[in-house]
Amino acid sequence: MLERAITYSHTLLRQTVKTGDIVIDATVGKGNDTLFLASLVGQTGHIHGFDVQEEAIAITKEKCLQAGVLEQVSLHHIGHEQAHTFLEPDCELGAVIYNLGYLPGSDKRITTMRESTLTSIDTLLPRLRVGGLMLLVVYSGHMQGKDEKEGVLDYVMTLDQNAYSVLQYGFINQKNNPPFLLAIEKRKHVQTS
Ligand SMILES: C[S@@+](CC[C@H](N)C(=O)[O-])C[C@H]1O[C@@H](n2cnc3c(N)ncnc32)[C@H](O)[C@@H]1O
Repeated sequence: MLERAITYSHTLLRQTVKTGDIVIDATVGKGNDTLFLASLVGQTGHIHGFDVQEEAIAITKEKCLQAGVLEQVSLHHIGHEQAHTFLEPDCELGAVIYNLGYLPGSDKRITTMRESTLTSIDTLLPRLRVGGLMLLVVYSGHMQGKDEKEGVLDYVMTLDQNAYSVLQYGFINQKNNPPFLLAIEKRKHVQTS
């Protein structure tokens, strides 16, 4: 059976993330990806999680505590456009995951936005290790979503194919803007100016 975009993002993470990796959950929400990443990086790895909603950080902190993984997780109540500033200069990331849009069951006006999402992608991509993955689950059905989707697609389509492989995965016969997945794999190191 074909996997949904969000399930496939976990399949790719499972294939890529290794014990001891440093990874980022760029949109923590209710912590589903944070907990999944914790199971992959193990006790020697680390997850940096980011969300602009205090409630999301609090819910996820409690879940990590209950699961016994809080020591492996740093939760930051700040936008993911600042994520790169929390990384040591020599830190290479195994993976970064975004679930774009708003948190279901929460304030729908608090949503990821084109400019901050693009800033975050642009500053974190160079921090991936070779073979590392950036995953974006894109929801475009809400008000800001179309603009964000177009911005992100424009950006990833222009990435140098020698440096990054970019995959788009989604169902093209479903109604009402189903989410799709963008997976960016780093193929080699790129010089940044
Ligand atoms: C679709 S939800 C994430 C769902 C989450 N992955 C989970 O497992 O529950 C999107 C989240 O992005 C957060 N968000 C919005 N703008 C953000 C930003 N600039 N930086 C980080 N998180 C942001 C929202 O507060 C919301 O919790």
